[in-house]
Amino acid sequence: MAGDKGIYTKRDDGRKFDEIREMSAEVGIVDSADGSASFNTGHTKAIAVVRGPRTLHPQHMQNPRKGILRVSYGMMPFSVTDRIRPGPNRRSEEISKVTEWALNSVVDLSEYPNTVVDVFIQIPQADAGTRVAGINAAAIALAHAGIPMKEMVSAIGVGKIDKTLVVDLDKYEDSDFHDAEGSTDIPVAITSRTKNISLLQLDGKISVPEFKECVKNAKVACEEILKVQMQALKNIDGGNN
Ligand code: CDP
Repeated sequence: MAGDKGIYTKRDDGRKFDEIREMSAEVGIVDSADGSASFNTGHTKAIAVVRGPRTLHPQHMQNPRKGILRVSYGMMPFSVTDRIRPGPNRRSEEISKVTEWALNSVVDLSEYPNTVVDVFIQIPQADAGTRVAGINAAAIALAHAGIPMKEMVSAIGVGKIDKTLVVDLDKYEDSDFHDAEGSTDIPVAITSRTKNISLLQLDGKISVPEFKECVKNAKVACEEILKVQMQALKNIDGGNN
């Protein structure tokens, strides 16, 4: 809700400005895969399935020093109110690439030369923040598959609506109709131990001090997300899967 002078005064779902939507995660949701997981925030749902490492074909694409991570992100046709056309498009190719980079900084495939590890991310329900939900699901699916990882990675969308800084924008907040300055969306992924930023994109306008504050907010939010990811991994250990 926008107040006078373009100040976003209240979130429609009643959340505090720095509050993440309700989260849940589950590991081991696809028996036939090497690793799998889901990660949900509010109405956004992401599923990640891992296959590999297995020998990469064609042979000329192989790296004799280490395995390759290959990510494919897609939204299901019914994931939003307007039907999404099946198959790759510019947006899905961009998200696949940035997700690959975000995950590449934590996986260690040096023990698996000439192989590929495939990560398939699917979004059955989208209410903004799907790339970050996909990264959160993929990180725990990779751990479930037993892929060596230097650390975990967690991701969140932060940003600014009119003049107000917010955490975990939903679709309404991500839309560009807000009064004064519109909406700025900044997906951020942060590694769990070294606290490195492995993804940062920026769509909109923001001042340097506000940007720094957003990154700080992302770091705090990623600590919360990490707890949910680690709990999901622990749950499966408890179940001896
Ligand atoms: O999902 P994410 O925030 O990572 O990416 P986005 O490109 O900023 O998209 C924001 C949201 O717009 C998505 O989560 C969907 O809810 C919606 N969207 C849509 O309705 N139709 C599309 N073709 C693409 C996105």
